[in-house]
Amino acid sequence: MKIAILGTGMVGTTLGTKLTKLGHSVMMGSRINNNPRAFDWVSNNGTLASAGTFSAAAAFGEIVFNCTSGLVSLQALQLAGRENLSGKILVDVANPLDFSKGMPPTLSVCNTDSLGEVIQRQFPDVKVVKTLNTVNCQLMVNPGSLKEPGNLFLSGNDNEAKSEVKKLLLDFGWKDIIDLGDITTARGTEQLLPIWIRLMGTLGSGMFNFKIVR
Ligand SMILES: NC(=O)c1ccc[n+]([C@@H]2O[C@H](COP(=O)([O-])OP(=O)(O)OC[C@H]3O[C@@H](n4cnc5c(N)ncnc54)[C@H](OP(=O)(O)O)[C@@H]3O)[C@@H](O)[C@H]2O)c1
Repeated sequence: MKIAILGTGMVGTTLGTKLTKLGHSVMMGSRINNNPRAFDWVSNNGTLASAGTFSAAAAFGEIVFNCTSGLVSLQALQLAGRENLSGKILVDVANPLDFSKGMPPTLSVCNTDSLGEVIQRQFPDVKVVKTLNTVNCQLMVNPGSLKEPGNLFLSGNDNEAKSEVKKLLLDFGWKDIIDLGDITTARGTEQLLPIWIRLMGTLGSGMFNFKIVR
């Protein structure tokens, strides 16, 4: 499958690497054409890896991953281009974390709204699926590195889109995936971040996950 990764940070490079290892063709997008981090990533990931602008990547991908900072995700998606995203699945892994007042960050959108919903409202013909935002990027692609992987959550309005994304998550190694329902349920997973950040501080590592015991 042709997959676009919007974002050149640790999440974009980690997901991009895993997806090429799984045999997908991946184009990484950035604000500029010759982003050095994207260039390095392409150099290290063989012939299935390529890079370009947000717009070129979005045009290339059959599925698009939003791996940009949550505060600027809308700007990045506008640069990606409505026409390039139209009708596609957008896997939103971003969190709306605002570090402008230092640590711990606050959520720039919460309670009665979420970043996932903001994106869905701004891009109504895109199938937004929120997932992976509650785990560290190393765990996203290697849940088996924990003794017990724990749970992953899915939110989105389109059931077929969630099924497609679930297939990729199963390929990543996830087993216990809970579909929370429509995109409004992204409020719940984005609002796990305040406890996630405090757990990371207390545990001294991001290599942990939530496990739902029924
Ligand atoms: N770190 C984790 O383990 C983890 C886990 C779960 C979720 N997340 C979420 O995943 C997302 C990505 O995190 P990250 O640390 O890999 O990357 P990041 O530093 O949060 O974001 C990097 C991307 O944001 C783009 N960007 C920055 N300013 C921009 C602007 N003004 N307009 C448009 N695009 C802009 C950058 O574009 P350029 O390429 O052009 O510089 C870059 O591609 C975040 O939302 C984060 O909360 C992270």
